[in-house]
Amino acid sequence: LRTESPSVWKYRALLPIETKPVSIQEGGTPLYRCDRLAEKIGIKELYVKHEGLNPSGSFKDRGMTVGVSKGIELGMKTLACASTGNTSASLSTYGAKAGLPVIVLLPEGKVALGKVAQALIHGAKVLSIRGNFDEAVVLVRQLCDEEKIYLLNSINPYRLEGQKTIGHEIVDQLGFNVPDRVVVPVGNAGNVAAIYKGFKEFMTLGITDRVPKMTGIQTEGACPVTKAFKKGTEDIVPEKNPETIATAIRIGNPVNAKKALRAIYESGGNSEAVSDEELVEAQKDLAQLEGIGVEPASATSVAGLKKLVDAGVIGHDETVVCVTTGHLLKDPEEVINISAEPITVDANIEAVRKAVFSK
Ligand code: F0G
Repeated sequence: LRTESPSVWKYRALLPIETKPVSIQEGGTPLYRCDRLAEKIGIKELYVKHEGLNPSGSFKDRGMTVGVSKGIELGMKTLACASTGNTSASLSTYGAKAGLPVIVLLPEGKVALGKVAQALIHGAKVLSIRGNFDEAVVLVRQLCDEEKIYLLNSINPYRLEGQKTIGHEIVDQLGFNVPDRVVVPVGNAGNVAAIYKGFKEFMTLGITDRVPKMTGIQTEGACPVTKAFKKGTEDIVPEKNPETIATAIRIGNPVNAKKALRAIYESGGNSEAVSDEELVEAQKDLAQLEGIGVEPASATSVAGLKKLVDAGVIGHDETVVCVTTGHLLKDPEEVINISAEPITVDANIEAVRKAVFSK
């Protein structure tokens, strides 16, 4: 019996892999129409592309199925990455499936619990670096240059090839329509450029006749791309001490910043930075108005959309897709910190009833 669900490999003709891919059914994520959230934000039509529903719980799986498959084609025997968490969780998953050893470099104390758990259970060698993500990137690049180890950060172009299928799928799911705008959280800045590439390919092939305005959202504590956008340049000024509750995008020197800014400028898009408070509100709105559970970094897309609508930059009549990049359960500690405590009661019906009806 063979079953085939929609996945990244639906777009195989546009992917640079000749061999049988290392795949565990990545992609094919839902595009939810979100009318309650749209009403709160004040726009006509809002969709959420929930990438948290990939096999390892983030969009990284789309890039990893292609990147790891290419690594095998190239005869590489060991795989590595630096990560704020999700890339390492995904690489560990695909390395396990491929039967290849994985090394991940994580910034000590700054990776959400669920992501560390994933890297550990899938059998990666996990190095906790006494430094931040940007420092871990420098180290892993040197390691991979000097040893024969395959680097799977988004500097690797095959990662971005996989991630571009988010753009393909959005067009597909909207019945071959292109939304006015796609809003994406930005950290190391690969994904926004990758998604744009997907849209551009479909236009070049004559499947569509335009591209959406690519809009990249960062946090106020880690926003070199937004700052460059506001100055109108392609060159970022790296930030030495990035800090945000959204640890996935706690990045001061994004390697794909130029590509991201080009995608934003060329498509007529925008970039904005949101506060941790704004992203937490958006995370709660997604969860409580739409039943969509996301990790903090993912909520920046919705928080940024709201901020840009409030500022009059995004029109009320636009059709918008927000990409939510990672699953809620990636970072349970953050959720506990922003939520009310459970109510503890004695194991009798009077106590339960009292608690149920108390304000
Ligand atoms: N959202 C989540 C949940 C992420 O994990 C990341 C990146 C991003 C957004 C930003 O995407 O880097 O392509 O701009 N996480 C990387 C990691 C850095 O190591 O997991 P980007």
